[in-house]
Amino acid sequence: MNSDTYLVDSVIRSRKAVRVFRPDAVSKQDVIDILDVARTAPSNSNTQPWRVHVLAGGARQQLSDALARAHTDGAHPQLQHMPDPLPDSYRLRQEDFGARYYGALGIDKADVDARSQATGRNFEFFGAPLGMIFTIDAQLKKYSWLDYGLFIQNIMIAARSRGLDTCPQVSFARYQEVIAKHLDIEAAHEVVCGMSLGYADEDSVVNRLELPREPVVRFARFAGLDA
Ligand SMILES: Cc1cc2nc3c(=O)[nH]c(=O)nc-3n(C[C@H](O)[C@H](O)[C@H](O)COP(=O)(O)O)c2cc1C
Repeated sequence: MNSDTYLVDSVIRSRKAVRVFRPDAVSKQDVIDILDVARTAPSNSNTQPWRVHVLAGGARQQLSDALARAHTDGAHPQLQHMPDPLPDSYRLRQEDFGARYYGALGIDKADVDARSQATGRNFEFFGAPLGMIFTIDAQLKKYSWLDYGLFIQNIMIAARSRGLDTCPQVSFARYQEVIAKHLDIEAAHEVVCGMSLGYADEDSVVNRLELPREPVVRFARFAGLDA
């Protein structure tokens, strides 16, 4: 049976990172409902490590402006969110992503300024009317970050089932201090990532990127199962 026969499978498959949004507003009730279902995510000993700042209108704009300034002044250290050097198999996929993404934007890989401008679009939440910033108590260990990933995936899937789109964005983690100051984040917390939420501009070429995935046989080993 094709897995798209299953409703949830088809919603999961319909998710993609959207980077051009229509300006259409997202209703507060939709966001509350999305978070309400997302909070059913499992977490280690039910510790529920998530804390979410939902931003729209002036609040979203003020943060975007502050981040745009920080991004342009270039004074902040590069966020090391991947090991350097990145092992080959990951590096090849990362390069493939870069080629597809910057190719769709018509940006030459060597054009550092144009790439930096494109990165800056992250901080405008790619034009989405609504942005979210996720924080976590910095004392928690990597297993709690795993809980967080489940919560964030729930948000993205619940958004899709309402016809909404998302882009999860680690880029925000680069500007911890700027965000902490603007959102009055608790001292013990750090930014996990941000997320854009809205309705995709379906005419945008950038939104038509189809990032490939490795087939199951490349990442799973089976033992003791019938043929
Ligand atoms: C934790 C995480 C952080 C990400 N950070 C960014 C980001 O900062 N900016 C961005 O444009 N995309 C970001 N993405 C989106 C990925 O590039 C995207 O999920 C990946 O290329 C696969 O494409 P797809 O989601 O459209 O299938 C992030 C995704 C995840 C899961």
